[in-house]
Amino acid sequence: MSDPTDPFFEPYDRDQIAYGDVPSAPLAAYLDQVDCSGQAIDLGAGAGRDTIELAKAGFHVTAVDLSPRGAERIRQRAEAAGVGSRVQTCVANVCDHEIQPDAFDAICATTVLDHLPADDARRVWNRMMAGLRNGGVVYVEVHTTEDPGSDRWPGSQSDAPQSETAAAVVNYFAPNQLAGWATEEASALRILRYEERLEWDYTHGPEHLHGKAILLAVKTGAHPPWYGQPVAFPRRGA
Ligand SMILES: C[S@@+](CC[C@H](N)C(=O)[O-])C[C@H]1O[C@@H](n2cnc3c(N)ncnc32)[C@H](O)[C@@H]1O
Repeated sequence: MSDPTDPFFEPYDRDQIAYGDVPSAPLAAYLDQVDCSGQAIDLGAGAGRDTIELAKAGFHVTAVDLSPRGAERIRQRAEAAGVGSRVQTCVANVCDHEIQPDAFDAICATTVLDHLPADDARRVWNRMMAGLRNGGVVYVEVHTTEDPGSDRWPGSQSDAPQSETAAAVVNYFAPNQLAGWATEEASALRILRYEERLEWDYTHGPEHLHGKAILLAVKTGAHPPWYGQPVAFPRRGA
């Protein structure tokens, strides 16, 4: 089945839902180590693997995505995980969705800023930064120019297999671009983890390679009990 108004209908309609149910590893590591409560927003939530993890950790989560089928799968998964009352879905374009200033204790945007034209991505980022409360955490993942789907070097020269959904990515981030945004004074972030890496993806379609940048950060001044991913040097016996 397909739906011309929802490019992600078919991937989210599968029995084996695209992107799987394993949450983004750095986000999961943070949620495992830090007590969480309050409001979270998951932008480009897809079928909700990060939404569900945020809700399990204690957040009330608004999951925003263009895909109505994704929203249905999120609601099913949230009910099955016993966190249905903490998850709200919103079928909307993240470019139009209002992010209330100073309203969120966690903001997640896993591979969605790269699905937006560059100017829109920057506007959404600015609203994310304004929406993050003191003490809040932000998690962002974007595809980079290392990705074989990129029309820029080095990805454009790669003969590694591309994602079946590569056509939806329109804005591959340059080296250090996400780090640059995160370290601007106006962002007011303290970075807990940043890396740019390659990764083989087996969560949907034929195996394929990705170039990714990932950012885990808190608002400047926040010092949660974070020991890294994987956890390094935790207190003995804890
Ligand atoms: C690669 S998927 C990632 C899904 C999810 N974050 C995950 O990691 O499992 C990208 C998602 O972004 C959504 N998306 C793309 N452009 C969007 C937009 N302008 N507004 C809202 N969602 C969008 C797509 O519908 C899709 O679900």
